[in-house]
Amino acid sequence: MRIILLGPPGAGKGTQAIKLSQRLGLIHISTGDLLRQNVAKQTELGKEVKDYMNRGALVPDELVAKILMQRINQADTLQGFILDGYPRNLKQAETLENILRQRNINIDLVIDLDSSESVIVQRLTGRLVCKSCGMNFHIKNMPPKTQGVCDRCKGELYQRDDDKEETVRKRLDVYRKETSSLINYYKATGKLHRLSADADPELVLQQIVALAKEIK
Ligand code: AP5
Repeated sequence: MRIILLGPPGAGKGTQAIKLSQRLGLIHISTGDLLRQNVAKQTELGKEVKDYMNRGALVPDELVAKILMQRINQADTLQGFILDGYPRNLKQAETLENILRQRNINIDLVIDLDSSESVIVQRLTGRLVCKSCGMNFHIKNMPPKTQGVCDRCKGELYQRDDDKEETVRKRLDVYRKETSSLINYYKATGKLHRLSADADPELVLQQIVALAKEIK
């Protein structure tokens, strides 16, 4: 099965993708994580994309397509995958279609996680991320059992550079201008389901799992 998680920054795409990949045995592909790994390792690509990410802008399509291709072409994705953060505009949706067509596979389910600006700003400015496994926490909503330490792998928790309030609002603006048009694009395929992302994460997960089971 292949799933796309759509939704504004902070809607919970990463949180749900990690849980879903464990529940359904699918590979989690986050273009944001792949880009951040390149920034952390100071690769040539990382140096090129860092400024775009820190400004809350989209990284140029051709650079993201390159890292997506590299990841999607790995053998483990044959078991199915969850795309978190890709596509982000119509050009990327077309690129994805081409990649999938070459492999004779399709997207089965598209989930649009819907949330309001005030909820998103509160979530992102309080988010903590594990440096080792990428698990998300929140200072108030989902605090780790031990301050600064990941519950899952004991890795160190940190705040993302692009989670400052000003950058979060910029990212939301970019989402509205460039990404939200994908909702109609995928609605037309009949595969899109919109869910409120403001409910308890476990409830959101159950709803996605139920939709995935319906189409299995
Ligand atoms: P990316 O890393 O993809 O960030 P994003 O899309 O802005 O999404 P986030 O990771 O911020 O939020 P999320 O929806 O995953 O929410 P999360 O689960 O963490 O992209 C970063 C940057 O990389 C972009 O700005 C761009 O520059 C670049 N980039 C990436 N992909 C690109 C592409 N395809 N093209 C071009 N550029 C690209 O949850 C947020 C917080 O809320 C957490 O603290 C969590 O614990 C909490 N939370 C989650 N769910 C709930 C809930 N139900 N109730 C209460 N709290 C919750």
